[in-house]
Formats: sequence, C-alpha cells, structure tokens
Amino acid sequence: VEETYIMIKPDGVQRGLVGEIISRFEKKGFLLKGLKLFQCPKELAEEHYKDLKEKSFFPKLIDYITSGPVVCMAWEGVGVVASARKIIGATNPLQAEPGTIRGDLAVQTGRNVVHGSDSYDNGKREIVSGSKKVKCVHGFRLRHPGSGSELRNKFWG
Ligand code: GTP
Ligand code: MG
Repeated sequence: VEETYIMIKPDGVQRGLVGEIISRFEKKGFLLKGLKLFQCPKELAEEHYKDLKEKSFFPKLIDYITSGPVVCMAWEGVGVVASARKIIGATNPLQAEPGTIRGDLAVQTGRNVVHGSDSYDNGKREIVSGSKKVKCVHGFRLRHPGSGSELRNKFWG
C-alpha cells in the first residue's frame, strides 16, 4: 500500500493549523499511520531537502524548517502521494488554488505551512529518515479495525 510523508512546517504548528491540516487528509479518507512532533536537527533538514542544496534560498529554507517543532506524519492510501500534493497545492501559495491547504492558509513560498513527498521513492526515504535517524520516541500503534491491510497495525518505521 502506498504511503507518503507529510510534514507540517514550523509556521503551521505555530499558527495553530495542525488540526486543520490533519483534518483535510482524514476527511479525504487517507489513513494516518504515524505521527510525531519534533524539532528537526539541521543535518536532517539538509538531508530532507538535499535536492535543493544548490538553490540560493537553501540556507533560508533550512533556517525555516529548523525554526520550531514540525509535525511528521506518514499517511497511507491508494494514490496518496499524488493526491496529497493536490490537497497541499502549488509551492507558491499565491498560485495555489482555493480549496488547497496552501491556497487557503498561506501567502508566502517561504512560509507555506506543509510539505508533501513528490514521489513514492522520496516518500519512503523521508519516512525512514524521519523515524529511524532521529533518536527519540516516536510513533504509536494505530488500530484500524477491518481495514484489511497487514501494514496498518504496525509501528511506524
Ligand atoms: P515541499 O513539499 O516543501 O517539498 O515543497 P514543494 O515540493 O512544493 O517545493 P520544492 O520541493 O521545490 O521546495 C521546497 C520548499 O522550499 C518549498 O515548499 C518552500 O518552502 C521552499 N522554497 C521553494 N522555492 C523557494 C523560493 O524561491 N524562495 C524561498 N524562500 N523558499 C522557497
Ligand atoms: Mg518538494
């Protein structure tokens, strides 16, 4: 079953948008598989966004992502990687459609409240780096009776 990594960025947490953002994925029908609130270390933020290392905004991006706690989540469902990107909306919130998270809740590219994996492989990589490389207690057992997936009752990671 497909999984994606969704991260509520520090501005989303600070602005009190955690419930609103989680709610959109829940209402769509995706399954919350793992969740933790944590302060992302600089090295992990750099690894997470390593594809953007050469961009001029990279140092600002790392400062932003490490500026406060983030909410790390694994969401599961058929087509969840692409669908989550649609639910999140365009990178620049001013270009994001109304009805998307960024379209409804943000105005700046550098403060666009949420991250979503852009591919299945990156989703796997990001979930693993979020859960295994950081030494902290994380994840909890989620029960989804009748869900029919062997993955659903396992600990995240
Ligand atoms: P993520 O889901 O966070 O990966 O966003 P994305 O896939 O929509 O965009 P991308 O991966 O290209 O960029 C990652 C993040 O870098 C964006 O979400 C922004 O927070 C930030 N970013 C991208 N472009 C700019 C820019 O031109 N200026 C600034 N300040 N930040 C940018
Ligand atoms: Mg991206």
